[in-house]
Amino acid sequence: MANIDLHKPLSNDFVVPTNAQIGATESLASRANENEVACMGTLTNNLHLMMDSFYKPTPDRYKILCEAKAFPSDQYAFASQAKAHGFDPEDAIIEVSPRDGEYTLREEDILATIEQHGSSIALVIFSGIQYYTGQWFPMQSITTKAKEKGCICGWDLAHAYGNVPLKLHEWDIDFAVWCTYKYGNSGPGGIAGLFVHEKWHNIERPKFAGWWGHELSTRFKMPPQFSPISGAQGFQQSNPCILALASLLGSLQIFKEIGMLPVIRERSLLLTGHLEKLLRESKYFVPPSEAARQTPLDPCFTIITPTDPESRGAQLSLLFLPVGAGNMVKIFDYLAKHGVTGDEREPDVIRLAPAPLYNTVDDCEAAAKYLNEAFDALTS
Ligand SMILES: Cc1ncc(COP(=O)(O)O)c(C=O)c1O
Repeated sequence: MANIDLHKPLSNDFVVPTNAQIGATESLASRANENEVACMGTLTNNLHLMMDSFYKPTPDRYKILCEAKAFPSDQYAFASQAKAHGFDPEDAIIEVSPRDGEYTLREEDILATIEQHGSSIALVIFSGIQYYTGQWFPMQSITTKAKEKGCICGWDLAHAYGNVPLKLHEWDIDFAVWCTYKYGNSGPGGIAGLFVHEKWHNIERPKFAGWWGHELSTRFKMPPQFSPISGAQGFQQSNPCILALASLLGSLQIFKEIGMLPVIRERSLLLTGHLEKLLRESKYFVPPSEAARQTPLDPCFTIITPTDPESRGAQLSLLFLPVGAGNMVKIFDYLAKHGVTGDEREPDVIRLAPAPLYNTVDDCEAAAKYLNEAFDALTS
């Protein structure tokens, strides 16, 4: 374990190197080669670009497999892509749901679904970390299974980028897309990214070309024929916004200096583990199995994120009970009034994520304290 002071933000003593020589494509989707990564566009745009290149349905193999309740933008993208190819999304999209009384997906159920439907699946695409539950899916085993059945395997890494260590090249992932404005700190709407595995680089795939994907050496000679940069950067279309690049670069310099492994991940494990412990000690906490079995009558909460640290990143998703009672909004307002910035997901979930770069153990303690106070106020 690195020597980590959890009372101080990680970036407190950090001096941004003035001569840092990192490119804008420096990747938090680590263990990817530089030519496998492009810094470009927005997540949903990039998802469509990737699906345009990699989702090539045939009459026999046309299905898309994803988790149930994927982020809505992904659901819209999947459905519209299926429709664009003449398929009915109701038939073409297979969703894997948690078992009755459970909140997250079991690895065995995901793998069994791929095994069962594999020959009709064109694309397996999951979130690296599920935005609502915070579950980090077993990316390597899902990818391996998808490949075994001849499917393309892509990932939405919106909540995984800058949060958990990733080995996109080694895991043999075909493509991935992400935004950088969550753990990547680039600011709302910041520039996004994509990954295309090296094994695809010499295989001609359809691309919607733009001048920024053209070879750098002749880009400004403006030739009429498109000659793409080999690899992911050949998918770039437009001249990117320099302000968006600059804000991401500032954050990446810090990530590069500190290192995702071991420091940031270790600190994340400690902080989220500590927050979980404090929350579980609350008199208002009920274990997830109990919460799912019978609806409690009094205000309380459970944590729907997996307890195994290897199945989650920084985020813990708190489910407020009884479901539909409106407690979440009141608690969220109380937390916000006391400086605890969570994220509300209607109707009953608050996501709390100690961001390892700048949150401290004191922030975790404040979050637990004000959560308990909010419940006290609710029940008094
Ligand atoms: C999991 C996930 N996918 C897709 C998106 C959509 O991102 P964008 O609006 O940058 O396209 C988000 C945004 O929060 C997200 O959380």
